Order: sequence, then C-alpha cells, then structure tokens
Amino acid sequence: METYCNIPLRERNIVLIGFMGVGKTTIGQLVAKKLYRDFIDVDQEIEKIHNMSIPTIFQQLGEEYFRKVEKEFIVDICTNTRLKIISLGGGAYLQEEVRNVCLSKCIVFFLDLSWDSWKDRIPLIVNSRPLLKNKTLEEIEELFFKRRDAYSLHNSRVSMNDLDPEAVADQIVKSVKWTWEIYEPND
Ligand code: S3P
Repeated sequence: METYCNIPLRERNIVLIGFMGVGKTTIGQLVAKKLYRDFIDVDQEIEKIHNMSIPTIFQQLGEEYFRKVEKEFIVDICTNTRLKIISLGGGAYLQEEVRNVCLSKCIVFFLDLSWDSWKDRIPLIVNSRPLLKNKTLEEIEELFFKRRDAYSLHNSRVSMNDLDPEAVADQIVKSVKWTWEIYEPND
C-alpha cells in the first residue's frame, strides 16, 4: 500500500465510514457545511448515474456489479479530487482497494455506534438496505461485528453513542482542525 502522501493535510478529502444507517450522510453534510466544503455521498452519486435506487441496482444488476461501480467511483474521487467530504456506503470499505486509496489519500473517520444503539434503527432502514432484508436479528448482529475489523483501519474514531448528528459533526471538525494545526501549522 502507498503510504507516502503528498497531498497537504488541509486539502485532503475527509471520508466517513461506518455501518449502514449510522448517519454518515447526515453527518457528512453537516461537516461539509462547517468546513465550507462540497459533500459527496457515494450511494447518491451511483443512484444518479444509473437513475435507479440502490435496492433496484442490487435487484436488477446484482451486488457484484454494485461493488465494482462503488470501488471505481471511490478510487476515482479519492485520487482526483481534494477538499471534499465523502460518505461511503457501509460495505464499500470492505474492499481492500477502497481502504488503500482512502487511507493513502484522505483522512478517514470511523463513525462508531454500539450494537445496542444501532439495532433500534433496523425498522427504519430495513426497506432501503438490501443486505438487511430477509435476515434474522442474529445474522444482522454477526454482520455488524464482522465488519468492525475493516472499520478498525481508520485515522480517527468518533463514538456516536448519546451524541446527536450536530455534536458528532462538531467533534470531527475539531479533530481535523487539531490535526491540521499539529502536523501542518499555518505560519
Ligand atoms: C451497504 C450499505 C448501504 C448501501 C448498500 C450496501 C452495505 O449504504 O451502500 O445498501 O453493504 O453496508 P449505507 O451505509 O449508507 O446504508
């Protein structure tokens, strides 16, 4: 994996990762506003390109196709853009190429919610998340914990329990500004 990065920290894209439905889109939009940056939601962009919803893409074109498009899109924006706030779909970061490009070119924040807090959201998101459909609670729990290995590869983690989206976004902004000041201070 490429470890040296010549993009100044202040210009690097900020990428939000985490399990489906934790609030990556809402929080990404707030962070973008607070830092005066553009926001890119990968799933929304894929939906726009295909003029189809994510569940329809899964159903008609298949998960394998979705993962390929998702990976290519993320590699492209992480390589060719700067100063963006990007929220990834929850499964994107399981692909090694996605992790490598995010960690080598961007600043990666893991939005971490406990299983107990997250599981209450299932009824709200199950219809729009094909991977949750027709799964038992035990199967979903297994998926939730299995994915933590990939998510553990991040630059910074925000524990979201008991925080509203505004507070999570404030923490990310504060953390990123500290990083800028510590590692690349303005003269
Ligand atoms: C997925 C998460 C979804 C979406 C797709 C697959 C996953 O995005 O990309 O349904 O594999 O975890 P969110 O994380 O925004 O729910």
